[in-house]
Amino acid sequence: MTNKKQGSLVFVGTGMRMAGQLTPIAQSYIESFDIVIAAVPNIFTRKWLQGVAKEYVCLNDHYDDTKVEGKTRRDTYRRMADTILKEMRAGKKVCAAFYGHPGIFACISHMAIAEAREEGYEAHMEPGISALDCLVADLGIDPGSHGMQSMESTQFMIYKRTLDPTALLILWQVGIAGDLTLKRFDTEPAHLQILVNKLAQYYPLDHEVILYEAATDPLEKTRIDKLRLGDLPKMSYKQITTLVIPPAQTLEKDQAIIDELNALAALRAQVQQAA
Ligand SMILES: C[S@@+](CC[C@H](N)C(=O)[O-])C[C@H]1O[C@@H](n2cnc3c(N)ncnc32)[C@H](O)[C@@H]1O
Repeated sequence: MTNKKQGSLVFVGTGMRMAGQLTPIAQSYIESFDIVIAAVPNIFTRKWLQGVAKEYVCLNDHYDDTKVEGKTRRDTYRRMADTILKEMRAGKKVCAAFYGHPGIFACISHMAIAEAREEGYEAHMEPGISALDCLVADLGIDPGSHGMQSMESTQFMIYKRTLDPTALLILWQVGIAGDLTLKRFDTEPAHLQILVNKLAQYYPLDHEVILYEAATDPLEKTRIDKLRLGDLPKMSYKQITTLVIPPAQTLEKDQAIIDELNALAALRAQVQQAA
C-alpha cells in the first residue's frame, strides 16, 4: 500500500473566456484548495481568482526570466513548475490554474504532475475549454470530418514532418514562429516566409487559410481573418494567434481496403446463411 503524502496537486483550466467557460469542478478546486497558483493572461480572470482563493500566487512575472542573459522560456516553465511543487511539498493542497485547457500546449502541468506522483503525492488534471474548442465552435469546423493535424509552428518548421493536405491543419504559436532563441514573444515576415515556403510543398499559395484569435473577454472581438497562404508574411500577429489551414485536396478512397472489408462482410453473410 502506498502512503500518499499530505500535500496534493490539481491542475485546472479557466477556459478562454472566464464568463461561462470555467467548469464547476475547476471552480470548486479554486475555492476550496489551500492555495491557487495561476498563469492566466486575462486581468478579469486574475482578479476573480485573487478574490475567491484562500491564498493566491500569480506566475506571470516568471516570464521575465527570459530577459536574463542565458535564460529561455524553458527556464520559465521549470521555475513555474518548481513554484507549484514547492507549495505542495510544504503540505498544501495546491490548485494550479492555467488559461484554456491546462494540459494542451502547456508542458508545465505534465511536468509537475509526473514529478509529484513520482514523489508519492496525489496529483491530477481537470480538463478545460481550450483555444481549439473555441476555434471549432467559432469557425464551424468539425475536426472529425476530414481528420485533424495539430502542431506547434516552429516545431513544424525545424523538423522533417509530413503533412496530409486532405486533413485540417492547426498551427499553434504562429505568433512566435521561427524563434530559435526561445526568448522572443513575436515573429517576423522573414520567419513567416520560411513557414510559407515549407507549407507550399503541400498547399497552393492561393489556398485560403485563417488567422484565428478567440475573444477572451466580452469587450474583445474574435479575429477570423481569411487570406491567401502566400500573404501570411504581410499580416500582424499576437501571441494568441492560431493559424488554421483547411484541407486543400479531396479524400481519395483506398479501394483495396474497401474491397477487403466488403469481402469480410460477404464471408460473414455466407457463414450466417449456412448456420
Ligand atoms: C502555450 S499555448 C496555450 C494553449 C492553451 N493551454 C489552450 O488550452 O488553448 C498558446 C497558443 O494557444 C493558442 N491560443 C491561445 N489563446 C488563443 C486565443 N485567444 N485564440 C486563438 N488561439 C489561442 C495560440 O496558438 C497560442 O500561441
